[in-house]
Amino acid sequence: MMAGEMTTYDSLALEDERSAHNYHPLPVVVASALGAWVTDVDGKRYLDCLAAYSALNFGHGHPEILAAAREQLGRVTLTSRAFHHDQFGPFCAELGDLAGKDMVLPMNTGAEAVETAVKVARKWGYEVKGVPDGAATIVVAENNFHGRTTTIVSFSTDPVAHDHFGPYTPGFRIVPYGDAAAIEAAIDETTVAVLIEPIQGEAGVIVPPAGYLRAVREVCTRRGVLFVADEIQSGLGRTGETFACDREGVRPDMYVLGKALGGGVVPVSAVLADRDVLGVLRPGQHGSTFGGNPLACAVGRAVVRLLMTGEYQARARQLGYRLHERLGELLGHGLTEVRGVGLWAGIDIDPALGTGREICERLAVRGVLAKDTHGATIRLAPPLVVEAHEIDWAVDQLAALLPR
Ligand SMILES: Cc1ncc(COP(=O)(O)O)c(C=O)c1O
Repeated sequence: MMAGEMTTYDSLALEDERSAHNYHPLPVVVASALGAWVTDVDGKRYLDCLAAYSALNFGHGHPEILAAAREQLGRVTLTSRAFHHDQFGPFCAELGDLAGKDMVLPMNTGAEAVETAVKVARKWGYEVKGVPDGAATIVVAENNFHGRTTTIVSFSTDPVAHDHFGPYTPGFRIVPYGDAAAIEAAIDETTVAVLIEPIQGEAGVIVPPAGYLRAVREVCTRRGVLFVADEIQSGLGRTGETFACDREGVRPDMYVLGKALGGGVVPVSAVLADRDVLGVLRPGQHGSTFGGNPLACAVGRAVVRLLMTGEYQARARQLGYRLHERLGELLGHGLTEVRGVGLWAGIDIDPALGTGREICERLAVRGVLAKDTHGATIRLAPPLVVEAHEIDWAVDQLAALLPR
């Protein structure tokens, strides 16, 4: 069947019958998209206020990203890492420079990059710190979301993500988020890393108390453990800074990046660290057939070029003030809490008005796509190319669903 031949009803019925039910999407079947807008198979337009969980920070079909992809499509798309290619070195150097890190290890999905960070931290612990082999521990936070592999869900505190996927990978200690003293208390001589999200996205855009990231940095430095920042959702412009850690002037030992690094075109993730950390990996000890492929690197280079201008970080900052100002007006009028920073908001809906899911369904009818999480929360994360009047319009659509 050709694209464009299916109605919404046909698409939903076919998916229901033939695909695994590991998601519960809104009943919108997207056929095309440009900038901050998507169009469904019936021709209805929606403002995309999720942006693929920040993977579309630069919007759908960004001309410079597409141009880089098209140019690379016509040259070479895959070599495997068995050979070199001419996009690989420049991508690693340019991304490393953006973050101020010596070395880059490209992977594909976010979960793979987190797995990579866990492996590197353990190896560093055994070979550099001197932790007895097999004893390494990593401190993580409650309500974390780092992906879906068996190791990562081993330290998830969300029963839906965690339960019935065991046996679980040992070696993780879970402490409350936002509490640097709890991290310090969990660290002992076996601890190789602290792995946290600078802002917890999936948990509902939870912004930790001011000073938390600085305190984590200080504890990690003093106790000789690696600070690993999972910036897969928070990084690359979303918060108004290149990295959410920049908000506190903090530099982690390892950045874990993904989502927006692929420009909404291909999956591109990466782990960034200095030579004393990433240098522990030797040939054959880790890898990926597709990681760092020519198309991914060309697209990733275009993303780095966009971020180097600072334009997208500035947009997120300025438009973020507007988004949060407008949402703040709805507090007490159907919204019980508004959190977030930059173009990123988690809003809690008064349960009397319906679930987060129900509000998202009603928003979709009004032409706004957003996503619920954990029952009463809705996440808003429009592409950074969104315009101020479009933000106003989206908030107006939300306000129309709430009591006056
Ligand atoms: C902070 C964080 N880490 C890791 C991941 C996993 O990324 P992926 O779905 O590409 O494996 C996500 C995805 O939402 C995320 O938000």
